[in-house]
Amino acid sequence: MTATAPRRTGAVTSGPGQADHAPRRAAIAARTLRTDRWWVQPLLTVVTLAAFVVYSTFRAFQNAYYFSEPYISPFYSPCLTTGCEGDTFPKLFTGPAWISPALYILVIPLGLRLTCYYYRKAYYRSFWLSPPACAVAEPHQRYTGEARPPLLAQNLHRYALYGALVFNVILTYDAILGFRDETGEWGHMGLGTLVLLANATLLWLYSLSCHSCRHIVGGRLNNFSRHPLRYKAWTLVSRLNARHARFAWFSLFSVAIADLYVFLLATGTITDLRFF
Ligand code: FES
Repeated sequence: MTATAPRRTGAVTSGPGQADHAPRRAAIAARTLRTDRWWVQPLLTVVTLAAFVVYSTFRAFQNAYYFSEPYISPFYSPCLTTGCEGDTFPKLFTGPAWISPALYILVIPLGLRLTCYYYRKAYYRSFWLSPPACAVAEPHQRYTGEARPPLLAQNLHRYALYGALVFNVILTYDAILGFRDETGEWGHMGLGTLVLLANATLLWLYSLSCHSCRHIVGGRLNNFSRHPLRYKAWTLVSRLNARHARFAWFSLFSVAIADLYVFLLATGTITDLRFF
């Protein structure tokens, strides 16, 4: 008798001593036997991610109100346009002012989050209902996996991470520039400085807790005993990795909040709270 590889949700396979039937789903007519509110989490995920997509799309195309001395919105940094204001990250390339600089750079953070192992779980469940929750049947008949286009592109995650690490350096630089006042004098601090610092910190925690980062740091080794430094780094990243989902959400919120704060300053809706 040949062993049959396990199949996805609800699949029943033949085992030792059983007839060799083709794998089949358990004969349960109900979509789920769960009685708790299993739909709350996928619903919250849909609402939150959809709200972020709508907000970030609007802001990316707005091409305005992204700078208020000395702060720049994380959506627009590095500012790759001739229309940039202020003294921000050195401009390596400048496109025409009518193209929003956010459009050049969003591909990296968007690519990271779209291919993130945690977000895949979140949006496969909440948007594609594949499956919507544990022990809840999915509406799809077939599972084609990530071994063919378009989901094959999920394997580019590691490269999106490399790009995101560069962005983290730039956003950290922006947060340090926040220790200036409106005239460019160093040694000052405002609420905006804290907002940008918190955002940069959360983005580092999100990137460093990444599953690919954990593999980059500790993968492809036959033993750790000959690589004590990599073992230490892997242990640290593994600790962060256990909180990756939390960092994924917190950093998503912090990016939106940092952008909103700069937007409100730039439009004159609020004034920055200066500590010193
Ligand atoms: S797994 Fe989430 S960023 Fe890499």
